[in-house]
Amino acid sequence: MTTIATTPNQAYAQSLSRAVKVNWQVEDIIGGDKRLDFSKRFMPEVLARVNDITCLSEAEKLILNQIRGNSYLHMFGLVEEFIVPSVLDHVKATGLSDITATQALLHFAEEESKHIRLFRRFAEEFEIGFGSRCDGIGPIKEIVDAVLQHRPLGVMLIILYIEWMTQYHYLASIRDNAIESLDFQFCSLLRNHWLEESQHTALDTLMVKHLVQQLEPSEVEAGVEDFFKLIEFLNGGLMGQVQLDLESLSRATGRTFTELERQEILSVQEKSYHWTFIGSGLTHTQFVATFKQVSPAQQQRLFQVAEMYC
Ligand SMILES: [Fe+2]
Ligand SMILES: [Fe+2]
Repeated sequence: MTTIATTPNQAYAQSLSRAVKVNWQVEDIIGGDKRLDFSKRFMPEVLARVNDITCLSEAEKLILNQIRGNSYLHMFGLVEEFIVPSVLDHVKATGLSDITATQALLHFAEEESKHIRLFRRFAEEFEIGFGSRCDGIGPIKEIVDAVLQHRPLGVMLIILYIEWMTQYHYLASIRDNAIESLDFQFCSLLRNHWLEESQHTALDTLMVKHLVQQLEPSEVEAGVEDFFKLIEFLNGGLMGQVQLDLESLSRATGRTFTELERQEILSVQEKSYHWTFIGSGLTHTQFVATFKQVSPAQQQRLFQVAEMYC
């Protein structure tokens, strides 16, 4: 029987009890005989979008798809690095007034630290097997510090949309995907990440609501303003990653692309990054519902911004 939590305390307790039941270890997912299969694509087409690029052969599309897989590890490893301190700051600010909430949030931070290890471990395996260098945007610490300079509500809304986006990544493109034959370990990564993220979305929502309760209306609007600034900031990083992916593709294939070919690859990939890392999260119905409660006045703006990334 499913119990519906009616108070924040019950919701924290329910989330904690579900979270401790999942509890996989990085070593269960990658390493030993669990290797990446470089004969297969790593990412579902809906998240990597390589098929539309006419100037690439099938073999080159496979390589670009795998580069996108490696960049996915990098991007998620990066965002997890600002999620951990944000959750810990929230715990510090709320103290021990609700000890169940404290335990649930500390468990959440511990899981995100584990996810950072998971993404790094996959990246090591990728580096061993791929055969040429692939770069990611950075330095990560500078990006994380820049994000954390924004108001906690703005950062927490970013985290909330990212967590809902992770749900979409697994549920919409991996779980019932019988068409694509993707690498088993990568599917396992997305599945295991999703399993724990489903509790995180509940906790993020509670943290957002708690923050809003503590703020004056003008402070809420300032936090929402920071959220929109952060979307632009993250988009700048994503567009940098698109350029790096193209360089990685050139290195891996030994091809020097003409200006026309470069433009074609960049244009398709920019759209793909927009949808995979921004649009799919901003349009998630659960995220939209929470955002509407935080700032009804800015809901139209949210739709307008989301449309730019869809
Ligand atoms: Fe995570
Ligand atoms: Fe998470």
